[in-house]
Amino acid sequence: MRAIIHEGRAGLSGVHYVSNFADLSFPGPGEVKVKLKSAGLNHRDLFVTLRHNPEDPSLILGSDGAGVVSEVGENVTHVHVGDEVVIIPSLRWKEKTPAPPDDFEILGLPDHGTMAEEIVLSENQIAPKPSYLSWEEAGVLPLSALTGYRALFTKGKLQKGETVFIPGIGSGVATYMLQMAKAVGAKVIVSSRSSEKLEKAERLGADVLLENGQDWEQSLHGEIVDLVIESVGAATFNRSLDLLKKGGTIVTFGASAGDEVSLDLRRFFYNQWNLYGTTMGSIEEFYEMLDLFKSHKIRPIVDRTYALEDAADALDYLSKSNQFGKIAIRIRE
Ligand SMILES: NC(=O)c1ccc[n+]([C@@H]2O[C@H](COP(=O)([O-])OP(=O)(O)OC[C@H]3O[C@@H](n4cnc5c(N)ncnc54)[C@H](OP(=O)(O)O)[C@@H]3O)[C@@H](O)[C@H]2O)c1
Repeated sequence: MRAIIHEGRAGLSGVHYVSNFADLSFPGPGEVKVKLKSAGLNHRDLFVTLRHNPEDPSLILGSDGAGVVSEVGENVTHVHVGDEVVIIPSLRWKEKTPAPPDDFEILGLPDHGTMAEEIVLSENQIAPKPSYLSWEEAGVLPLSALTGYRALFTKGKLQKGETVFIPGIGSGVATYMLQMAKAVGAKVIVSSRSSEKLEKAERLGADVLLENGQDWEQSLHGEIVDLVIESVGAATFNRSLDLLKKGGTIVTFGASAGDEVSLDLRRFFYNQWNLYGTTMGSIEEFYEMLDLFKSHKIRPIVDRTYALEDAADALDYLSKSNQFGKIAIRIRE
């Protein structure tokens, strides 16, 4: 089958398109085979090309995807051949617990991922595709929308009428968080290095736009926020804290611009701030996220779509951080 694999060399130079990857076996008990129509890229795919040992057997990349069930194994109870589904990449994390179980993994390392014509996985790892979404939109939904949902609502406890600050609005997760926060009636402040991305965010409903080069506190004229969702990392973490109200919450799940920050502990405890870490989300939260999307007809923002054969170019484009929203991979019509 056709697939995008990583092998041989660390990083993007180890990413290859192949047309002869061995077909997958028949699904085992409780498993299904899905013929994938589309996949989506995440920043994680770039990290996977560095984490997967190039000497190990080839790995099919990708965590996000959508397609049609083509075969079902024994004892499969609630899935049928022909069902249109989205992939749930959060493996073995069923309920909304404070942290994932020890055997939690994300699809696409160590298991084969979604950038291929087919995938075999547990029937618990798929959910019905929202019918109003195109295949491209459905294929870019899973990982980022789930991560953003848990950060905003499970950890951040965002409520209608509250104000949330989302730095680095160009990112895939950030655009989903903007859409979900507006859907529940929150006020959303965003920042970006790019004025073009800020204009796009305004069209999506962002209430206040901050350029990274500006003095944010001065631009906000003393306005402070209830919640910050930080996924940029070192470049913005402490600047984001400057905008947080006393007793407010900051949630972190990404560090695109560096893992390490220095923290003024005295300022932190005097302000009685709360700091939460989060990663992805459970299958329970995945269904909650789908309900929110369906009830507000939220559509993913697809920046560009590439053919499967050109996925290495798509990953190169992602690595440059010029996108606004998600990057899709078309696998079959
Ligand atoms: N823990 C998890 O489960 C989980 C899940 C999903 C994502 N993540 C993490 O969350 C982050 C976002 O993921 P994504 O896939 O949505 O990423 P992405 O699409 O690659 O976006 C990253 C964004 O960060 C901003 N940025 C990057 N470098 C910056 C710098 N030097 N200074 C200021 N801003 C910078 C940019 O926003 P602007 O261009 O608008 O400035 C960029 O669009 C990544 O770190 C990813 O690893 C973690």
